[in-house]
Amino acid sequence: MEGMKRALVTGASRGIGRAIALELAAQGYAVLIHYGRNRDLAEAVAAEARNRGAPGVALFGADLTDPDSAARLVEAAEAELGGLSVLVNNAGITRDNLLLRMKDEDWRAVLETDLTAVFRLTREAVRRMVRRRYGRIVNIASVSGILGTPGQANYAAAKAGLIGFTKSVAKEYAKRGITANAVAPGFIETDMTAALPEAVRKEYLAQIPAGRFGRPEEVAKLVAFLASPEAGYINGQTIGVDGGLTPC
Ligand code: NAI
Repeated sequence: MEGMKRALVTGASRGIGRAIALELAAQGYAVLIHYGRNRDLAEAVAAEARNRGAPGVALFGADLTDPDSAARLVEAAEAELGGLSVLVNNAGITRDNLLLRMKDEDWRAVLETDLTAVFRLTREAVRRMVRRRYGRIVNIASVSGILGTPGQANYAAAKAGLIGFTKSVAKEYAKRGITANAVAPGFIETDMTAALPEAVRKEYLAQIPAGRFGRPEEVAKLVAFLASPEAGYINGQTIGVDGGLTPC
């Protein structure tokens, strides 16, 4: 099953997920483009993925906080792509606030989306990958989960949890041909970061050795390598794409 190039990317209708789906498409993967609500955006990504040469493209909309969505997504990958060799857990949210102002709901929503949903989907995907003795899991974490960031106690906790989760999965299934790695982007220009106030953007920029923000495509290149058969001896790692911000 090593030659099987079939990938599911969550939250692929925009931002980093979109760039990952398009990079995998260009590298000859059949891709299942998962999206949350915006089918129009997802369809545009699907059309672009076909243009870039994906041998198969399918779309699936689901709220990942719905516990049933994991099984439905993996079944869709089986039905539409004929299986799944790569799972990229990219979808995520922020609900920023200082600790003393953070509501239980802000904590719950971020942990549920950025960590619990990844646990469920990975469990479902690995169940199939174990049978085929091949798989690549790439989890999109964040420098926030390594450094901690003010105003993001919920997000930093979820992403740090995701890094620990990735390391455990890596050790459990290494002998079955499955790897699990985390990618920790720094500040990447997407809708998520466009929402930040100008003062916060300036503050981040001052800390980045490269002196600029990153592009989604720069994250996608690393994800595609970790997703490839050639990356089989890289396992349980967390790799930053952050302009030199964090020595991981
Ligand atoms: P984005 O907000 O542009 O895209 C996130 C995608 O996830 C959206 O398409 C959204 O619909 C989807 N999504 C969120 N919750 C969902 C749910 N419950 N069900 C289904 N879909 C859901 O964000 P961006 O910037 O592209 O981020 C992608 C990943 O990269 C996230 O995990 C984020 O935490 C991470 N990241 C982003 C950084 C940045 O600077 N943009 C930095 C570090 C990490």
